[in-house]
Amino acid sequence: MDIRTATDADLDDVLAVEREAFGEEDEAELVRALLDDPSAMPILSLLAFQGKRAVGHILFTRVRLQAHPQLSLAILAPLAVVPDVQNQGIGGKLIAHGLNLLTASGVDLVFVLGHPGYYPRHGFAPAGKLGLQAPYPIPEKDADAWMVQALRPGVIGSVSGTVLCADALDKPEYWRE
Ligand SMILES: CC(C)(COP(=O)(O)OP(=O)(O)OC[C@H]1O[C@@H](n2cnc3c(N)ncnc32)[C@H](O)[C@@H]1OP(=O)(O)O)[C@@H](O)C(=O)NCCC(=O)NCCS
Repeated sequence: MDIRTATDADLDDVLAVEREAFGEEDEAELVRALLDDPSAMPILSLLAFQGKRAVGHILFTRVRLQAHPQLSLAILAPLAVVPDVQNQGIGGKLIAHGLNLLTASGVDLVFVLGHPGYYPRHGFAPAGKLGLQAPYPIPEKDADAWMVQALRPGVIGSVSGTVLCADALDKPEYWRE
């Protein structure tokens, strides 16, 4: 399996992976909107290939903490692996590869709203109890789905506030886990 940065020429592959993984159009539409959204930049878009076939995609986009403009923050959304190759470690490798690249580019924190049984295996922990709130309130029963990971030591605990996301992600329907 190879992982590489997705370029404009890969857009069809990116959208096809999203559609196949989620079995609907919504996530592909979100990815298309984020790739076109200046407020989401910088982005990191990675594709995983088995041979010539694109089988996985991960997207990180920029978020901010209002009172801490000096911080470099990202959010992981979405992550997609096509059904016939799930549970082979591809999702985990996409996360790890993305986090390595983000660390090298100086990102401080990475957020995700996702399965609380999955992302903690890859270093994420519930963010709300650390003082870092999602752009829209997450229902109490799903509080653990809003997670964060520090790529630079010492940031968590020294800052707090509500995360501001890109315009394309700034819709209440994206924040119901
Ligand atoms: C979630 C997803 C990205 C995981 O990718 P993957 O390549 O299959 O995952 P990995 O091979 O790295 O990890 C597999 C492990 O994660 C677990 N896992 C997968 N999805 C999970 C979930 N939703 N909740 C908890 N655990 C999950 C598997 O049971 C497996 O556990 P095991 O190692 O104990 O057998 C993939 O299943 C997918 O694209 N699903 C549909 C889209 C989706 O839900 N995306 C995530 C949005 S937050």
